[in-house]
Amino acid sequence: MKDLVRLKTSLTEEMEQILNDQIKIEGNSSAKYLAMASWCAEKGFENATAFFMAQADEERGHMLKIFNYVVERGGKAMSPEVTNVRHEYDSLRELCETALEQEISVSNSINRIVEAARKTNDYATDNFMQWFVSEQIEEEAIARRIVELFDIIGEDGVGLFTIDKQIGKVRGAYEGGAE
Ligand code: FEO
Repeated sequence: MKDLVRLKTSLTEEMEQILNDQIKIEGNSSAKYLAMASWCAEKGFENATAFFMAQADEERGHMLKIFNYVVERGGKAMSPEVTNVRHEYDSLRELCETALEQEISVSNSINRIVEAARKTNDYATDNFMQWFVSEQIEEEAIARRIVELFDIIGEDGVGLFTIDKQIGKVRGAYEGGAE
């Protein structure tokens, strides 16, 4: 039966697993960002809340994009189990630093998929993943910019209020929109 199912897809078992692992990573990212949005809302950071809500949506979009790709290739896409979502942070700065680490880790994982695709001559997956390679440049840049705001503005006095305000503008600036 398994061999028969395999005939439906040109994805190798190994690549199907790697892509399902990435589906899980993106699903986890979405849940993490949603929890970050909740933390920000609780602390009264309105713009950061909206930012991380939007980020959670984007990650779900990434998850679905890979999910659909696996389905389209005739593979078996797995709906991921998301557990151990962190809801507590010591500060907005720590939360934003965690978001940046998350993005760097996702970039590394995307690179590993491209590497695996090239090693197995899976040009379709290589080509498909290039969108994610570009996306990660932007995602990392946005997260890095947000972390920089803490040093540029400083957290004393109205600093955190100003940082929150600026977080609301970062995405627009990187996506070519108005401030
Ligand atoms: Fe889908 Fe931000 O990585």
